[in-house]
Amino acid sequence: MSCSSPLIDAFNRRISYLRLSVTDRCDLRCTYCMPEAMQFLPKKDVLSLEELHKLSLAFIARGITKIRLTGGEPLVRRDVVELITALGRKLGDGLEELTLTTNGTRLAEFADQIAAAGVKRINVSLDTLDSALFQQLSRRDRLGKVLQGIAAAKEAGLKVKINAVALKALNEEELPFLIEWAHAQGHDITLIEVMPLGEVEGERVEHYLPLTAVRDRLEAMWTLDESDFRTGGPSRYVTVRETGGRLGFITPLTNNFCAGCNRIRVTATGQLYACLGGSEMVDLRAPLRSDNPDALLDAALDEAMRIKPEKHHFRIEAGAGPAQPRHMSVTGG
Ligand code: 5AD
Ligand code: SF4
Repeated sequence: MSCSSPLIDAFNRRISYLRLSVTDRCDLRCTYCMPEAMQFLPKKDVLSLEELHKLSLAFIARGITKIRLTGGEPLVRRDVVELITALGRKLGDGLEELTLTTNGTRLAEFADQIAAAGVKRINVSLDTLDSALFQQLSRRDRLGKVLQGIAAAKEAGLKVKINAVALKALNEEELPFLIEWAHAQGHDITLIEVMPLGEVEGERVEHYLPLTAVRDRLEAMWTLDESDFRTGGPSRYVTVRETGGRLGFITPLTNNFCAGCNRIRVTATGQLYACLGGSEMVDLRAPLRSDNPDALLDAALDEAMRIKPEKHHFRIEAGAGPAQPRHMSVTGG
């Protein structure tokens, strides 16, 4: 196969979106994401800045037009701004969009540099505006920092989307308030169903909240107008007539959206996972570190297209355990 051929999988889906994890580390410990004593990867296994850059260029050469940097928390990696700046130079030259998903704790420090690199939109994860609940959910007292970070991003001209995991009996009652707040600040907000990825303390199912139920409740309060707005992801949007803001729903459990999947994910150690919910994997680090990286990387990407599964099979039930042993912070949120 020629090295510039686009990435098309066995189900004829054109893969144009790469989610690249730059570190599995995080400065928070969200209870639904990881245990307090999370074991992080040895730093030597993690790709260097140069390797991440080279890998991204190989993907762009194969028709990836959108790259989202994720983690863990991408901004805990010291040199990530250099990567963002380097990739920003590819905007308009193969790359159409460069974005970032962050927990916001260090955004105040980096927002200007991120915007200067050409990033237009970022996702900030925020499940609550209640400081005590924030501390309970993330096991860290950082709500103030996150709010400062979000304000700094807005100030820098970045379009912010808030991502909130909907959690029964935790932020469930607060969700309308969180939505109102986001819309008042001019931010879009997307609600996400908790996914069974990686072992955590306690059972996720206890706090699993189907978004079908949330939506019913919101519809009793507000008028939700269907919107055909898309960001190239699985989120389905409505406009809340009363706030004028956009509200998205990511429903991996209640409404499987795999048919339109356009993405692949690469961990910070260079393993390509063809699906967030599957074990299909191709290693890219060995090709990257070989004597013939270009040809071997291309072959690995072709292999990834052969093995990408049709859909994930998440189920969330008491005693079932995670669908995948990998945490979201490894494969990239
Ligand atoms: N299910 C759903 N969302 C998760 N996140 C982390 N772990 C999970 C999980 N198991 C979310 C974070 C963040 C995004 C990167 O992924 O809250 O919004
Ligand atoms: Fe960190 Fe995001 Fe996981 Fe929370 S959900 S621990 S912010 S990686």
